[in-house]
Amino acid sequence: MTSSRTGIVIVANRGPNDFVWQDGAWVTRTATGGLVSMLTPLARRSNVGWFCCVSEPPDATLARSGLFTTAADQTDPRLHVLPVPLPADTYHAYYGQISNEVLWMLQHRMIGAGGFEYLDSARHQAWGRYLEANARLAAAVVRSGRQPMAFLVQDYHLYPLPGLLRGAFPETPILHFTHIPFPDPPVLRLIPDSWRQTILRGMLGADVVGLQTRMDVRNFLSCCAEFLDVHIDADSGSVLMADGRRSFVRDYPASVEPRSLRRIMHTAEVSAAHARLAADRGEAMTIIRVDRLDPSKNQQVGFLAFSRLLEMRPDLCGRVRFLAFMVPSRTDLSVYRAYRDTVYRTIDDTNARFGEACGGPPIRVFYTNDREQALAAMERCRVLLVNSLQDGMNLVAKEWAVVAETPGVLIVSETAGVSADAAECALLISPLDVEGTARAMADALDMPPAEQRERHARFLGRVLRWSARDWINAQLADLGVENV
Ligand code: F6P
Repeated sequence: MTSSRTGIVIVANRGPNDFVWQDGAWVTRTATGGLVSMLTPLARRSNVGWFCCVSEPPDATLARSGLFTTAADQTDPRLHVLPVPLPADTYHAYYGQISNEVLWMLQHRMIGAGGFEYLDSARHQAWGRYLEANARLAAAVVRSGRQPMAFLVQDYHLYPLPGLLRGAFPETPILHFTHIPFPDPPVLRLIPDSWRQTILRGMLGADVVGLQTRMDVRNFLSCCAEFLDVHIDADSGSVLMADGRRSFVRDYPASVEPRSLRRIMHTAEVSAAHARLAADRGEAMTIIRVDRLDPSKNQQVGFLAFSRLLEMRPDLCGRVRFLAFMVPSRTDLSVYRAYRDTVYRTIDDTNARFGEACGGPPIRVFYTNDREQALAAMERCRVLLVNSLQDGMNLVAKEWAVVAETPGVLIVSETAGVSADAAECALLISPLDVEGTARAMADALDMPPAEQRERHARFLGRVLRWSARDWINAQLADLGVENV
């Protein structure tokens, strides 16, 4: 009965904190990423529970009980985290081999060498583990006895989950949100039909399918029309299934929380980071990038473009530096390690080629996960480069809009979700175009301050009109949930 339901249940691969098995005990660390930053404020409410996955250490029996006895998060007692342990090999197959090596690559259109190449028998076995992980999560949710007002299921790791929850909770509103781009039918056709069916039918177990952009919505509806026996109601943006159920498909562009970002900018950590960065900045103008080291972020083309900039504009040598804040990511996967090596080779080549003319290496790398340091760099940068091959949204661009102190210039790929909001504000580039990116860097460095300020103010206005709070409230409203 509706009246006995309370609170919200979030289900995501990652929790607000990561659980790491260290020296025989679970250690928690604040997790990073847009998903976590956008959902944590909601999760602090007392009646919100957050199920996430944890990879068990090999000697799991003791560890598992340890994890359950400390199920409430150990670093922030206001969070109600419910970690679901998965055997380490299941976790690796579900998270690494399917979610990241297949779905992430496919959905960011990295198809072929350096991305998603083919599905062999090992990959088919891994798909079985992906389904198993989703089934274990569904079982853990059922076992918990929670009867929430709604489920918020997150991302590509959990496509089958809404369908599984629908079976166990026929009346409870469910929303599935995909944080990364959704592919069009020709791309989704690259995986086996049974996988496509599982993905689309699983998502349609939700009452509302949430995606980042209108293009993602169009792609999802086209995939349903192409691959499923359903009726698409274009007027209402919904999918009507043979059993009479209807799922609405909506875009909810991800965003940032300006107030909390501004609070961070006044912390001692940010001041300390400014002091540390002073030597790296020197008197030079800075071009920066802040992203996980990931082939979809396209660091390689960004550094090639910077090298081309120094070649075509020798007058900039010594006057501009590239500070690259790259967060280590998914380093257990060979495709990520190979990409890291390629990127570092380009950095070394550029520094060797231009180091003398520039009076020192023109590219400085910060290969670490230090949010305050990255925000400090954004606050005073001349150019922020976001040249992702594809990006669901890209919250770094929106963070920059909020924290930039001396307005600089945003360069952003047309293929990043944020490019719609950044139109007429940022310099838009094609992510494969080294020459065009180099020219955009030159244009940004040459841009008169008044124009920089005007473009920045317009973008900031758009970011302030739609924050992370709006993102979550719109979803809850569409589920008919009020007063969480
Ligand atoms: O973009 C989707 C997303 O889940 C983000 O929320 C997050 O920034 C990123 O991927 C992190 O990926 P992972 O959880 O694999 O480190």
